[in-house]
Amino acid sequence: MADLFDFERAASLYAVMGNPVAHSKSPQIHRMFAKQFGMHIDYQKIQVDVGGLDQAVANFRAAGGRGLNITLPFKIEASRLVDDLTPRARLAGAVNTICFEESGRTTGDNTDGVGMLRDITANLGYAVSDRRILVIGAGGAVRGVLGPLLEQAPELLVIANRTVDRAVELERHFSSFRCLAGCGFEDLAGQRFDIVINGTSASVRDEIPPLPVRVFRPGALAYDMMYLDRPTAFLRWADEQGAEKCADGIGMLVEQAAESFYVWHRRTPDTRPVLAAMAA
Ligand code: ATR
Repeated sequence: MADLFDFERAASLYAVMGNPVAHSKSPQIHRMFAKQFGMHIDYQKIQVDVGGLDQAVANFRAAGGRGLNITLPFKIEASRLVDDLTPRARLAGAVNTICFEESGRTTGDNTDGVGMLRDITANLGYAVSDRRILVIGAGGAVRGVLGPLLEQAPELLVIANRTVDRAVELERHFSSFRCLAGCGFEDLAGQRFDIVINGTSASVRDEIPPLPVRVFRPGALAYDMMYLDRPTAFLRWADEQGAEKCADGIGMLVEQAAESFYVWHRRTPDTRPVLAAMAA
């Protein structure tokens, strides 16, 4: 890792840390954003061993790093390493963006939820307010996005998970939002939704969560937080089930990156050309 820490370039040094991280498109996205403002940033990918996050963050900081993105499986651990948490990171209990402040303090933020919300509402044109939303999964990925969805005041937001206790635990954690319910897959029989969001890791193994048929209302959006180089098993199934629109997580990736970019640079990039480049 020593070659990453080039002190001459450190004033604009950023990175994403994860395991695995080789596939990450974040360096490409952040470079495209920086180019819009005529900025040069050095954005690296750093593979971190499980158990090594603390040291890796300390090394990066000592080398003059200014900001970090944190990806799987370290988002929850990262929330315990920083000095301060933004309200949305505290609510999520997970951090995907770290800012090394001039003061020497580190702030942990979470831009995943706002990124997904912007993709669903602004890019795809689907409303969340007053709609029936189903979120599948109850792991770290889902925890990160619930706050911004709930703040839109959906009519109902159901979290369905294979391990029911984890869904119920999330219902408890977000209990200040009355429209939220946690349950198992069998409880979904007969229920229909306007937006169904897959936040499980099932797509990695080309598996489909056991959802009932007719889960989509007419005009529904099926959204997979994951992206692959082909439609995920969930999106293929949703298409067969008659979902109006099927979208993968590439738009969320670009939008969360834009929000991280804003956190670090106080500049709002135009995501449209980057979304187009990613889709191509
Ligand atoms: P992450 O931080 O990516 O969310 P995680 O905490 O391991 O990772 O959570 C993975 C989620 O995908 C969980 O909700 C998991 O269900 P369990 O809590 O029952 O383990 C869900 N998941 C993974 N594979 C699945 C499958 N084949 N069908 C349904 N749910 C699945």
